[in-house]
Amino acid sequence: GKVAVLFGGDSAEREVSLMSGRAVLAALQGAGVDAHGFDPAERDLHILKEEGFARVFIALHGRGGEDGTVQGALELMGIPYTGSGVMASALSMDKWRTKMVWLASGLPTPRYAILDADTDWAAVVAELGLPIFVKPVHEGSSMGATKVTAPGELKAAWELAARYDRLVIAEEFITGEELTAPFLEDRALPLVRIVAPGGNYDYQHKYFADDTRYDCPCGLPADEEAALQALVMKSARVLGCRGWGRADLILTADGRPYLLEMNTSPGMTGHSLVPMSARVAGLEFAALCLKILEGARL
Ligand code: DAL
Ligand code: MG
Repeated sequence: GKVAVLFGGDSAEREVSLMSGRAVLAALQGAGVDAHGFDPAERDLHILKEEGFARVFIALHGRGGEDGTVQGALELMGIPYTGSGVMASALSMDKWRTKMVWLASGLPTPRYAILDADTDWAAVVAELGLPIFVKPVHEGSSMGATKVTAPGELKAAWELAARYDRLVIAEEFITGEELTAPFLEDRALPLVRIVAPGGNYDYQHKYFADDTRYDCPCGLPADEEAALQALVMKSARVLGCRGWGRADLILTADGRPYLLEMNTSPGMTGHSLVPMSARVAGLEFAALCLKILEGARL
């Protein structure tokens, strides 16, 4: 039957989603799938039912697509969709509650504080040390995020993040290797190591710059990589994720991993890391898209 590839939307990550969605749509069409693009920022999602779509590939990022809302609408319409369900999507979109679940499950994640207008900035610096990462709780692609290196910058960083979200999180900065770990159904894919110039893997570097180095295979000994993959599969399980996703983590020089966040609708752009990892595992982009689509369910 007909497949709708949802992309665009009206989140701050719209531009990223347009890149992801176009790539997925072209790959599925190239593989003979009767796939059609659909931008829920332009058309009412409920038309999908009337128009007889049998399945949906979600290539939306951020709020109104990765956060359980679209998933809920598709549940009500009875149309199977790719990726995590309502609860895991909503939970994973929320960096604060994700950390609470991980901590309650004994999984390692950097210490944090929630910031608001009443925050004692000096107390946060005293507690978390410097640098501190300040981010909106519900954003992706480093939108509204700042690496704070001096106490005086913290308030401005909060103000910037607060433009994106009423909830803002400050996280201790863990020095180490930046890694990302995709999974496809029950299978962990190879880790990717991200080496950004100056350690600055921000929005620009994620999608537009060519000076970030990505290592896949990541260069870790096989047993260490397997241990991290097991950690990531557990981190996904406790959040209730399914289908596919990608956890971001930091590995310290003395071998301690810290989970940063879970992405339930990871980027599928030319710069994105799930496709890179899948390729190393023997799945070309189109095969990856087909596998994800096969996992569509209610
Ligand atoms: N939030 C972006 C799309 C990612 O995680 O890949
Ligand atoms: Mg993210």
